[in-house]
This record gives sequence, structure tokens and C-alpha cells, in this order.
Amino acid sequence: MRSTNIEQLPVAQQDMSTEVLEGLKKNSKELPSKYFYDKKGSWLFDRICELKEYYPTRTEISILKDNIDEMVQRIGPGIQLIEFGSGSSVKTRILLDHLDDLAVYVPIDISKDHLFKATNKLEGEYSDLEIHPVCADYTGTLELPDMDVEYERRVIFFPGSTIGNFTRERAQEFLGRMAHLLGDNGSLLIGVDLKKDPQVLQRAYDDDKGVTAAFNKNILENINRELGADFNLEQFEHLAVYNEEKGRVEMHLKSMCDQTANVAGEEISFEEGETIHTENSHKYSVEEFGQLASDWFEVEKVWTDEEDLFSVQYLTMKS
Ligand code: AVI
Repeated sequence: MRSTNIEQLPVAQQDMSTEVLEGLKKNSKELPSKYFYDKKGSWLFDRICELKEYYPTRTEISILKDNIDEMVQRIGPGIQLIEFGSGSSVKTRILLDHLDDLAVYVPIDISKDHLFKATNKLEGEYSDLEIHPVCADYTGTLELPDMDVEYERRVIFFPGSTIGNFTRERAQEFLGRMAHLLGDNGSLLIGVDLKKDPQVLQRAYDDDKGVTAAFNKNILENINRELGADFNLEQFEHLAVYNEEKGRVEMHLKSMCDQTANVAGEEISFEEGETIHTENSHKYSVEEFGQLASDWFEVEKVWTDEEDLFSVQYLTMKS
């Protein structure tokens, strides 16, 4: 039995009430999408991934399965594999099952609890795998502790098109920070959701069963609980719109009447029809994403599905 040792890096603590109030006091109200992911929100997100309308998860899994031999061949032996996320997904296992000459696997997650559970499970399933979990906010500064394990080069695995939840400017900045972490000869295997028929996007973010609506509204439930706020969830409606100009699906919560909510001791007023912008999910063409990454990376290979819904891209550092 191995003992799971988690390296803790400093995490900049942001005060939830300050961030929430700041967003709600803007002319166009908004909330940070990280507040979706409390226990219920994470569970709802897993349900979203199973919906018939939400194509990204199953499409990315098929792309990985269909092309894993070529991916592994490009990645090569003796690497340090860094994953942003706890490593609990089916996608991680597809890679781990095929990378048989891996030097070390480094999952990075902000939740110590997720990381601990996922690492424990992986240690049970992959007895020869060297795992060095790191608890850190990967959207902040990216430096890894010394691990005392030799490797040829670094490869980052960043699936799920999570990069789409950053604005284009922040995505570009983040690509720069990944490049810095990778260093010479590093590469990036990343899932990127593609531009497509807006109706397909609309359905993916506004499903028939109302799971995405519940996920969106849960941000208010989380704020009610954590900040003693009194949002009336019945008086807000889920809205998902494709903003063609910005190339992104936006999620909003629309106030169905004039109303007031008390949040952390302050009164926030809403007019009927006013919205709180809760999430952006940017979609890229293959060319656009290549351009976004072009300061640091060369796109070496793009794998897509038959309908060109989603892409998994292999980017190598420019020399
Ligand atoms: C986590 N992220 C990539 C999802 C997305 O598609 O932007 C979050 C999500 N929001 C609504 N449905 C899924």
C-alpha cells in the first residue's frame, strides 16, 4: 500500500464575498464561473457530460480512443506528464493505459480532496506508475516543485476545452504560462471545442432535461449558502446564447421580475429582464486556435471527429 503524498503549493485566497459583490455591482452584472463548482455543482457538471445534447465529452473521448496510438507515438517515452485537473476522468486513463514508458504523472488540482481520492484510485489501478500530485491553482503562477524523478521532457494534458472558459486574452496569457512551464522541447495535448452550427451549441448549453439550467442556478444556491444571501431561485431563468461576434456561448441568469437580493449585507437590485452573466465558453476554428497559440507553439497535429465538432490538438514548443 503506497502512501499518497500531496505537494501543497501556495494558493492565493480570494475572498468570495468581495468577488461576488464586485461582479454584482457592475453595470452588466456577472459572477465568476468557479462558483458553480461546489459539491452539487460538480455533480451536476458530471450529469451534463452524460447528456445527449452535450457532445464535447463523448466526442473528445472517441477522438482520444481512435487516435491514441499516434498520440503516444508523438509524445514518446520518458516524459513528465502534467495534467490540469485531478486525473479522475476516463480521458486520463486512456492516456495512462497507453503511455507505458512514462517517467512520472503529475496531476494538479485546487481541491486537495479530489486530488487525494483520484490519486489513491490511480495508485490502486496502476501499481508501477510514479504519481506526484500537486495541490495548486493552475490558473495562477505555474511552477512545479522539484520531484527528484528524471524525465526527458514535459507534456501537459489539458482536456475538456476548459481553455474555452477563459476570455481570448486570458487564454493567450495562459498558453504563455504553459509554454514557460513546459520549457524547451515540451508539448501540449489539449482539447479545443470547435465553431459549429449555433443551434447545436444552443442545445448543448440548454438541454431538454434542464440539467444545465440547474447547474447555472446552483451558483445562486452556493452564494445563498456560503454568504447567507437570499436569492429567490424561482425568480431567475437560465439563458444560454451564442454570441456570434465573440464566438462564444454565454450563460446568463435572467431576472423574471423587479426584485432585490441581500448578499453579504448589501442590497442588490434587479430589473425585470436584467441578467447576471455567469459563464463564457469560447469556440475556435482550428486556424483561430493555432493563431492564439502561435507566439509559443507550433500546431503539429489536429485530430477531430467526423462531424468536426471537437478537436484534440498536439502543440510543440517553437524553438
Ligand atoms: C468546464 N467547461 C469546459 C464546460 C463548457 O462546456 O464550457 C462547462 C459547462 N457549462 C455548461 N455546460 C458545461
